[in-house]
Amino acid sequence: MVKTCILPVAGLGSRFLPATKSIPKEMLVVVDKPLIQYAVEEAKSAGCERFIFVSSQGKGAIEDHFDRLQLLEQTLETRKKYDLLEKIVSNALEPGQAVYIRQPAPLGLGHAILCARHLIDEDSFAVILADDLILSQTPCLKQMSDDYHPEDGNMVATMVVELENVSKYGILTVQSESGLKVRASNVVEKPAAADAPSRSAVIGRYILRTEILDTLSAQTPGAGAEIQLTDAIGRMLPHTPLTGYAYQGERFDCGTKEGWLEANIAFACQDENVYAHLVPMLKRYVNNYNPR
Ligand code: UTP
Repeated sequence: MVKTCILPVAGLGSRFLPATKSIPKEMLVVVDKPLIQYAVEEAKSAGCERFIFVSSQGKGAIEDHFDRLQLLEQTLETRKKYDLLEKIVSNALEPGQAVYIRQPAPLGLGHAILCARHLIDEDSFAVILADDLILSQTPCLKQMSDDYHPEDGNMVATMVVELENVSKYGILTVQSESGLKVRASNVVEKPAAADAPSRSAVIGRYILRTEILDTLSAQTPGAGAEIQLTDAIGRMLPHTPLTGYAYQGERFDCGTKEGWLEANIAFACQDENVYAHLVPMLKRYVNNYNPR
């Protein structure tokens, strides 16, 4: 059972500017909840009890979001808004569950995880990238942790992508497949389509062996002059196996406008009341398409 989840939230979010100039990307809302809350709920469903947020300048809204707000709670209670009260109280993290640390500069995902190295004392830990939002019956990290065995080594969530999109992802060299698990003999970060060993792409859910922290600390910058997590996972092979997990669900890249919009529509369609309004609303705009 994985007990600690690292949530790297120190990226620049430049693909979503200007929205992310002063609002952390991870605080973008899908229907009625910020991305980071979906991520924490997913980690909780997988049994995680400790949440390490790797943060940076200007991301204070994330810390505020998981605090208790006494005045707001009292006001909701006085106004008998018990459903809203329950929503904000249940979202708060218990004392000691949240740890906020800083990544001094955005030197890559691997570097962000390395920043948490002094806080990890279990054999393995989870990582969730909140901007990869997944709609599924069973939360993605729970699917992975329920099926995880130490001999899986480092486990990454995978999905099959179009060949034209392989250059946006870490791509696995697939050795064998068994059920939802793929045994990989290598992983390459953002290969050109012609060089891609498969179309099996790594997305933002990981269960990692703690030894990866030693590998990361010895690593020099890779693609984009960043310390890449996928490079460290690759360097641990063949000593530490790499398992891709073809989770069941649909993933939205909420780090892009299109992905975030689609996520809003997909998640809205999960709510009977919102769905009833959404369909006529969309029809109205689509039928009256009139670009400015
Ligand atoms: P992205 O690759 O989406 O990068 O990071 P980004 O900087 O957030 O966004 P763009 O590319 O500029 O639009 C994936 C996840 O890793 C975190 C981000 O916060 C995001 O959750 N990250 C990335 C860090 O914490 N530190 C980094 O140095 C890079």
